Parts: sequence; C-alpha cells; structure tokens
Amino acid sequence: MTPPDLSPFDPARLEAIAERWDTPCYVYHEGLLRNTFQAFSSALEGRPHRLCYAVKANSSLAILSLFARMGAGFDIVSGGELQRVLAAGGDAGSVVFSGVGKRADEIRLALQAGILCFNVESEAELLRIDRIANEMGLRAPVSLRVNPDVDAGTHPYISTGLKTSKFGIAYDDALRLYQRAASLSGVRVVGIDCHIGSQITEITPFIDALDRILLLVDMLTSVGIMLHHIDLGGGLGIRYHDESPPAIGDYVHAIRSRLDGRPQHVLLEPGRALVGNAGLLLTRVEYLKAGEERNFAIVDAAMNDLMRPALYDAWHEIVPVRPRTAGRINWEVVGPVCETGDFIGHERALALQEGDLLAILSAGAYGMSMSSNYNSRPRAAEVLLRDNGENWLMRERERITMLYANEHIPD
Ligand code: LLP
Repeated sequence: MTPPDLSPFDPARLEAIAERWDTPCYVYHEGLLRNTFQAFSSALEGRPHRLCYAVKANSSLAILSLFARMGAGFDIVSGGELQRVLAAGGDAGSVVFSGVGKRADEIRLALQAGILCFNVESEAELLRIDRIANEMGLRAPVSLRVNPDVDAGTHPYISTGLKTSKFGIAYDDALRLYQRAASLSGVRVVGIDCHIGSQITEITPFIDALDRILLLVDMLTSVGIMLHHIDLGGGLGIRYHDESPPAIGDYVHAIRSRLDGRPQHVLLEPGRALVGNAGLLLTRVEYLKAGEERNFAIVDAAMNDLMRPALYDAWHEIVPVRPRTAGRINWEVVGPVCETGDFIGHERALALQEGDLLAILSAGAYGMSMSSNYNSRPRAAEVLLRDNGENWLMRERERITMLYANEHIPD
C-alpha cells in the first residue's frame, strides 16, 4: 500500500495560504470532507440511521457546521463540545453524550438542550442522571455503553473495548443495570451503545462487538426492554502510511447486513474516518542542521500543534509542497519545542532547503483538537479549501496576548 499523497490538494493554493496566513496552518479540503460523509450516508440509505460525528476528532466550528448542514448528528464528550455543536448550528436533538466522567453541570446543560441520548458508562452515572433529571422534572433518554470485551487490535492508548478498560459497563452486568434503569423515574431507556477503540483497520472486531451487543438486545427484548437504537460507536481507521483499512462502504455494509430484519435505528459515531485524510498541517523548514549521526530538519510546527507522533509514535506522511528533483537524504523532521519527544517524523528521505514548505498529511483528525499552547506557542490558523475555489480562514492564529488574557498577577 502506498502512503497518502498530496494529490487532492492544489500546491498553488497551499503556497498562497502560507503566504497570506503564515505557518503552521491546518488546511482542510471541503470536497474530501463531503465525500467521506456522503460515503457513510449513502451506504446507510434505506436503513433508519443517524451519523453522529465524533466532535473530539476535530471540533472547529466550520467543520461542525459543514457536517450539520449535511444532516449529521454529533457524539460529544463534554459540555464544551455541546456548546460548540450548538454554536455551529447543530441540532441538540441529534446529539449523543459519551464519556466516563460527566459532571452534574454538563448533565444539566445536556438535559436543558434536549439531547438525543446519554451514553451511560457506569451505575453511579446512571443514578446521577436519574437524580438530576428528576430535579429538573425531566426524563433523560439513556443508552448503556456496554463493554463487549473484544480486542480492537489497535494502539493500547486508543483501545477501549477490553475488560481492563475504564470505559463502559461490564458485559455481564449490563442486563441487571438495564433492569435497574427501566425502574427509574428520571430516565427512559432508548438504546444500547459500544465503542471498542479507534484506528481499527479490520472489520472483524466491529462485527464481533456487534454480535455480542445483538445477543444482549435479544435478552433485553425477552425481559420486555425494547430499544429504539443500536449505537456502534466510531473507530474506523484510515491510511496514514501502509495500512489498508476497509472502505467506508464495506464497513457499513458488513454492519448493515447483521442488522437486517431488526427494527432499531443504527447510530454510528465516526470521527477520524470523516476528517483524518481531509486535512493537512502546513509547515515551513526553519533550519537544516547536519548532525554527526543524524540530520535534523527543524520545522515551525511542533508537538503542541500535532501531538500524535509524540504521544502514540504515530506516522504522518511528510511531503514537500514543491518537491525538488535531487538531493534526497534522511532527515529527522522535528519541531522547535524543548523536548526530545518533539518530532514529526523520523528518517524521512526528502530533498530539503531552508524555507521549503512541507505538508504533514492525514492531520485532519486529532490534530487541531489535541493541540496545546505548550512553550507559549499560539495555536495554528485553520483554512478551508472550499469547493468554490475560495480559501476560507476558519480560525485565526491565536495571538500571544490571548494566551495570558485570563491570568492574574498577585498584587
Ligand atoms: N465514540 C467514542 C465514544 C469515542 O471515544 C471515540 C474516540 C469516537 C467515537 C471516535 O472514534 P474514531 O472514529 O475517531 O476512531 N487521539 C487519538 C484517538 C482517540 C479516540 C478517542 N475516542 C488519536 O489521535 O489517534
């Protein structure tokens, strides 16, 4: 499998963006964003469904608004993400709220907004939601996030469906908890949910999880608990390097075929598969530093802009926007942050000169949304390559004064 390349992106537009808005800068491709969303929705056509985009993958308002206009629902994990969805014009009634640590104020906010469903991760949370809903004179729609105990075969930090994981309700406990939920006056049982991990590159773990969930659905039916929807979470992987994840259509069809004849709506919570390969991080080579054992290309993007290499040892393809014909040698591509872990890529064969513009590919998911201000670096600008040819500034580069605007020096 060949790695992703720059072909969907027009180098002249990238150069113009770097010129106008400087680097580092995230750039997204509207057409690609639309295509991936469309691939999910057309594969689900004819089956009652809702695509709840996992906001954490990229929570920038322009992205949320684009998906909202295409009919997306949203999967959120905080009150902050809910506020972003609403600010972007998303519909609260199509929001599912996941996460192991929902605070009381977040639960209240979600109840007030009228979300579609809470994906409940523990008995304690169930009881808290029940109590708050009762206080507000409401009934909270809930799903239990069940841990199907399957191995997603992905990085341990992003594998969530094993018994040892902090996520979800133990499979063997689920029936009892559903019965408990059904007896509470402040909640209404509407669905079942699971999410087994992220960057999963095979279909089998998804189907294993689904089969385990369907067994539970049947058990629940036999005790008179009828569900309105089955939520299979997110997790479909993308190609960063040489992975060969299933095509979106194949993944959806495999799930669909298992659900034939069942009345429930199907919910999916894709994040990475929708945005990952639709975004890149533009960066400029600041310095070339030939070392004794290694050559360093110091670029102006760093681990605070794109944390994935430092955190997961993740691979992102790095390509020059205007490739040079000769002079390729191996480079350690690193950022300016004061940590040895601040690297973008190791041993990349590239022909480089100072000032060259590079594109760090597959950076649309968990790039900007995981960025920080470490080393007092302002967060990057974001630009959308619109289908109409316009380069749209989605987010201005942070100004340094914004970084300390809410700090107080003692007198
Ligand atoms: N639903 C739930 C409950 C989740 O926890 C996640 C991701 C998703 C959906 C979306 O998963 P996706 O379709 O994007 O795989 N920062 C890591 C990924 C963390 C994923 C956390 N949960 C990375 O950069 O690889």
